[in-house]
Amino acid sequence: MNVQLSNAASDDAEVDLLAIGVPESADLSDALSVLGEFGSALASAAASDDFTGKTASTVLYPTLGSLKATRVALVGLGSESDDDLRRAGRAVGRAARGKGIEHVGLSFGALNAGQTQAVIVGFGAGNYKFDKYKAEKSRKAAAATLSLLGGASEDGFATAAGILAGQSLARDLVNEPAAEIYPESLAAVAAALEDDRIDVTIWDEKRCLSENMGGIIGVGQGSSRPPRFIHMHYRPEGTPTRTVALVGKGVTFDSGGLSLKSSAGMMTMRCDMGGSAVVIGVLRAIASLRPDVEVHGIVGAVENMCAANSYKLGDILKIRNGKTVEVHNTDAEGRLVLADCLSYASELKPDTIIDFATLTGAVVVALGEYYTGLFTNDDDLAGQLLSQADRAGEGLWRLPLPSFYKEKLKAEWGDIKNLGGRSAGATTAALFLSEFVEEGIPWAHCDVAGPTFLDKPFRDFATGGTGAMVSTITQWLLS
Ligand code: BES
Ligand code: MN
Ligand code: ZN
Repeated sequence: MNVQLSNAASDDAEVDLLAIGVPESADLSDALSVLGEFGSALASAAASDDFTGKTASTVLYPTLGSLKATRVALVGLGSESDDDLRRAGRAVGRAARGKGIEHVGLSFGALNAGQTQAVIVGFGAGNYKFDKYKAEKSRKAAAATLSLLGGASEDGFATAAGILAGQSLARDLVNEPAAEIYPESLAAVAAALEDDRIDVTIWDEKRCLSENMGGIIGVGQGSSRPPRFIHMHYRPEGTPTRTVALVGKGVTFDSGGLSLKSSAGMMTMRCDMGGSAVVIGVLRAIASLRPDVEVHGIVGAVENMCAANSYKLGDILKIRNGKTVEVHNTDAEGRLVLADCLSYASELKPDTIIDFATLTGAVVVALGEYYTGLFTNDDDLAGQLLSQADRAGEGLWRLPLPSFYKEKLKAEWGDIKNLGGRSAGATTAALFLSEFVEEGIPWAHCDVAGPTFLDKPFRDFATGGTGAMVSTITQWLLS
């Protein structure tokens, strides 16, 4: 999206859709008085449509030649908090998407940096669609320009544009079919982010084997699409304030392996690289926003297939840090891939490790499609991430990580098994991962299985990938 800033007065804006923000406390006719006679007609139409300015509620009318814009939307700004502004922006974005409107003007009053960021990221999130595989004639135009009428912040605009680029890339990667995004092609997307401050190293299956990545090799061996290990490395121009490793589960398709999923359970499993999409999306945002933090982006990309040479139940895999894992279920594959990645990340001795993974169905049962499950050994890090998620308007909820549940992962033959049983399934998965993070490094695990992919539209997001956590993590890196 080519978001364009402009300060034209609302009644002569060169846009197709003019969206006017109305706070819940405002008097409708006062709020629309700038539009003269048409404004008072609009106010009575909206009043009879029960429009009250409730957050993200919208009414859309044709202007019938009264304004340059062909359509006008009233959108509720609620209390005008950043969150209400973001939701209002998203509602307008969705409305424009539904009608295929190219030039949109937002008249939400004067906005500071935080408000500008919230409105633009909201608009972009609501406007996003993935219809490249539809017939040309049923595709709607994407918004080409977004004019913020009435004053906006340049800083907020730049941050929003960076976040949106990362978030949209993450959504595209999740939405693309597994026939398009497989380990090698995912690695190519990461490699394309290379620039003067970002280096990208890709290891093929032979290199993964010689680097002792038994988890990646084991899970990947059943596919004709060989695995890839991806390491993106961003170095800021000055001395970095801290070093962060972001790790992503990149299972480009999860059939379950020999512990085969049902058709219904497998239908959307192209989304199982959602964690890697967060990492690649954040690196994309970083490429624009250049924070003063050194960032490692690490992805284990594999396809988990059911085939003659698939890894088997009872197999024992040796992870990079030397620990052995007894395989009790080939559908608990993400943790095996992440084990190698977290061992590798630990070797880099970063100040913080954060991993992202569509790891368990259990976290979806517990928290639903809005919340990412947060597990961490560091209360301070928990506080930082929860507050950035709150600022970004993304759902993040901390769940327990008590070491006494490690008992559920006791193995007969190896050091640990990859299955903890039904109870506390998201926690035992996180505890499994903790075995591969070097002691003493502050670490957080984000189970994004719920919000990564929507089965139906939700809060003005379209069905499919949402890019959840890209905004939170980018903001955290900038903070
Ligand atoms: N990729 C799935 C988890 C998942 C479920 C992601 C729903 C997105 C939506 C993961 O690999 C998996 O299959 N987990 C199993 C683990 C079990 C076998 C311990 C699960 O949650 O059922
Ligand atoms: Mn699985
Ligand atoms: Zn999986």
